[in-house]
Amino acid sequence: MKIPPVKGTRDFYPQEMAVRNWIIDGWKKVSLRNGFEEYDGPIFEYLKMFQLKSGDEIVEQLFSLTDRGGRDLALRPEMTPTLARMVNQRINSLPRPVKWFSVPRLFRAERPQKGRLREFFQWNIDIIGEDSVLADAEVIFTTVDYLRQVGLTDRDIKVKISSRKFLAGFLKGLGIPEQKLGALYVLLDKSSKLPADAFEELLIEQIPEKSISDKILKFMTEQSSEQMIDLIGPNECARTALDEINQVFEYLKNMGVSDYCIFDPGIVRGLAYYTGIVFEVHDVVGELRAICGGGRYDNLLKDFGGPAIPATGMGMGDCVLEILLREKWLLEKQLPEARLEYFVACVDESFKDATVGITMALRSRGFAANFSYKSGKLSKQLKQASDSNAKKCIIIGEEFKDKKLVIKDMVTGRQEEVEEDKFFAGLEKS
Ligand code: HAM
Repeated sequence: MKIPPVKGTRDFYPQEMAVRNWIIDGWKKVSLRNGFEEYDGPIFEYLKMFQLKSGDEIVEQLFSLTDRGGRDLALRPEMTPTLARMVNQRINSLPRPVKWFSVPRLFRAERPQKGRLREFFQWNIDIIGEDSVLADAEVIFTTVDYLRQVGLTDRDIKVKISSRKFLAGFLKGLGIPEQKLGALYVLLDKSSKLPADAFEELLIEQIPEKSISDKILKFMTEQSSEQMIDLIGPNECARTALDEINQVFEYLKNMGVSDYCIFDPGIVRGLAYYTGIVFEVHDVVGELRAICGGGRYDNLLKDFGGPAIPATGMGMGDCVLEILLREKWLLEKQLPEARLEYFVACVDESFKDATVGITMALRSRGFAANFSYKSGKLSKQLKQASDSNAKKCIIIGEEFKDKKLVIKDMVTGRQEEVEEDKFFAGLEKS
């Protein structure tokens, strides 16, 4: 009986594993150079932790289980609740601001589609304990720092920035009560993912007064902050939030990434806990789902039983990113070749022990080395050396009786005889 892999999961054969490692190595490098420290948590948590504040969409997508003691658990669909729990646990001893990153494996029972799977990796960067929008700008800078490093230009991607505070101020100014906002955010977040008429229909279900729903539609599509000032009028809360957005753009300009960034009031974010600046990175063509998303969540630590400490961060999955990098031919160009430093071959079976011995001597000095289990024809072994992308091949033959090795450069094809002692002494020096 053949058992297929579960839908929405991936098998990482060595080729796919090389891509995954390259993406994750890049995330880690960029995190470290931007001053973030790595952390991790458990893959499963109490179910109620994710039900508390992530929002209905995530709750519907939970993979949940019950342990033998009857406790309800869930595989983590996102990292932010775990982060909030961990920081709260040590709140008095952690130096602030906490600037942490993580690359968790996450699980969401989504309908698998292009760029969305049921198991994926997500780079998280978060800053906890800083309320200045300079921290929001730094999260955005770090995100762009990575995307720019892998070769994506401002003609390929845009960071679309807005603010939950701004949207909330605007909606409250229209007379929409606080308790209606949560459901409205979820719908507004879908505005670019749904056909226009379907979206309008759903909006009218929530906001039946046409004059108000028209204003919301206009708000979602206005692009400049000048037009926004007209639309929000003398709304104090929305004006303060707009000042904050402008401040973020000032910082981003100073950081040298403003060409990547645009103001887009249509960015709402699906998760329930955002309170301030929010952003998403999208491909310019607009064909793919968001590459990443994040924002400020100043109430989450308090909601999780901790003190009121501000926080901001972002999450980037590996799926859409990989699709985009392939589309732009950026992956093939940059993926490091898996190279073996030495392949050790022998001319016949009588040199087998020497072959194994030399290979192990190389490995114990830290070199990637391999040999063939079968000491058949030398040409076959050389083919294996070339298939495994070895830089050099050491051929053990008659010369070995005089303590000499034949070293073949697999790139130039040149061959030379070297005394074994000298060869190993040379290795130690390099
Ligand atoms: P999110 O918008 O749910 O935010 O996810 C962020 C990113 O994770 C998405 O833009 C996408 O790249 C990736 N992602 C989400 N779901 C899937 C999926 N099913 N398959 C593949 N990739 C996916 C959060 O998770 C927030 N916790 C991010 C955050 C951190 N906010 C503040 N700090």
